[in-house]
Amino acid sequence: MRQSASKAARALKAASNAVVATHIDADGISAAAIAGTTLERLGINHQTMYFKKLDNAALETLREGSWDIVWFTDLGSGSLSKLEDMNAVITDHHIPEKTASESISAGQSRLCDFSILAHVNPHLNGISGANHLSGAGATFLASIASNEANADLSPLALLGAVGDLQDQKTRRLEGLNREVLSVATELGLVEADEDIRYFGRETRPVFKMLEYSSDPYLPRITGREQEAISFLLGLGIELKEGDSWRTWAMLSERERQVAIDALKEHLTACGKNDETIMRLTGESYTLLREEAGSPVRDMKEYATLLNACGRHGRAEIGLRICMGDRAAALSEGYSLLRDHRTALSRALEVAKSRGITRMKYIQYFDAEDEIEETIIGTVAGMLLGSNGADRTAPMIAFAESLEPGDRQMMKVSSRGTQDLIAKGMNLSTAIRQAAEEIGGVGGGHNIAAGATIPSDRRSDFLKLLDEIVGSQISR
Ligand code: C5P
Ligand code: C5P
Ligand code: ZN
Repeated sequence: MRQSASKAARALKAASNAVVATHIDADGISAAAIAGTTLERLGINHQTMYFKKLDNAALETLREGSWDIVWFTDLGSGSLSKLEDMNAVITDHHIPEKTASESISAGQSRLCDFSILAHVNPHLNGISGANHLSGAGATFLASIASNEANADLSPLALLGAVGDLQDQKTRRLEGLNREVLSVATELGLVEADEDIRYFGRETRPVFKMLEYSSDPYLPRITGREQEAISFLLGLGIELKEGDSWRTWAMLSERERQVAIDALKEHLTACGKNDETIMRLTGESYTLLREEAGSPVRDMKEYATLLNACGRHGRAEIGLRICMGDRAAALSEGYSLLRDHRTALSRALEVAKSRGITRMKYIQYFDAEDEIEETIIGTVAGMLLGSNGADRTAPMIAFAESLEPGDRQMMKVSSRGTQDLIAKGMNLSTAIRQAAEEIGGVGGGHNIAAGATIPSDRRSDFLKLLDEIVGSQISR
């Protein structure tokens, strides 16, 4: 990986101007911030462009420009064959095209390099791109290859990994992500500590954090404000400090420990197993240079803020926040975050009211035009993780795609579980194959993948996908 990262750095240094082409989510925005800062420090003029996916229209836009080089971040690997005639560098972690249906091991990298100047992707070196390195992480490797002083960008590489939920499997960052973490902690930029895993440590009043808890779900507390308040008061934890609500981050270490112990006891008393109880705590990441109580101090909150920007058409606001704007961009990001939350809770209602259909190996719902295509994947993941969900099959979600063209297309998103991955399921290869057979395109990761398909082929797509997932699991 070091070799391909150095190759990427050399190619970039030889350019006098560049365009960074990135994905619209938290990982893509963090990757673009690393790429942009790297180019800026090299004195290379550049521009950033954001894409939901790399389709022909996106590639045409990139080909029309007169840039010396295109730097693809958090995308590109899934579309290698389409990039052959481009002067391009790719730093990505999606399952590469061509080798997608085979197991990818070290040594196969040349096969899928085509004419790309440099291709940095963990899958080419036998490293997991789902859990061990994000798009921002791959971009960071190229960045430090160009200049070791770029080690100060390591927190952005971790932000991409947390945004892509790479800490979900073991409740902490693993693999190459952990090496990046040690760079960031040694520089005193990030602190990793064992803490509660709920969302909102820095910005939510503690009782709200408990009320909105979902993984693990807290019987009688989740969704009930009064119960959450009584629970905390019963432990002697004050809800307010002066006029302001206390957040989890404002509690003393002792109060936090008392609350965690009591929550564990509560879960045990409710008959929850050890595995569920374990999910209550895990490693949390704090950006030490950020102000206490700010949405960019806790990495999980920061990543959600970036998703709120990118998934609602304002990725450039997220980029400005990553580049250090703590004034106008941050407050705009905050208001996008409020809209994002409203959109997600509305979308969950829509999905629930439409109902989930179970097939033999998959389950699905179709939101048609009622949920935006950019958040349908997040909704599928939330449904699969919600209390009482059927976790024995991956969740497939459909939404109308706003893509221009003669044919009405639909966006497909899918999310799986670690148990299904352990059984052999790979959503990236399954979705890609099913989509391609009916004239669509798709790809992604084993645990989360997406596609765009012709709307009138939905039932064929579902039938194919059910068969492919079935064969993966029984194999
Ligand atoms: O395009 P990109 O790689 O950045 O997106 C990865 C997607 O996979 C994210 O939407 C992330 O939330 C999802 N994911 C997931 N569960 C995991 C790992 C990733 O839902 N365990
Ligand atoms: O859009 P969604 O969040 O469901 O995407 C899940 C994963 O699949 C992301 O990593 C995304 O980049 C990838 N994807 C892809 N090709 C598509 C659609 C999604 O590689 N056409
Ligand atoms: Zn990513």
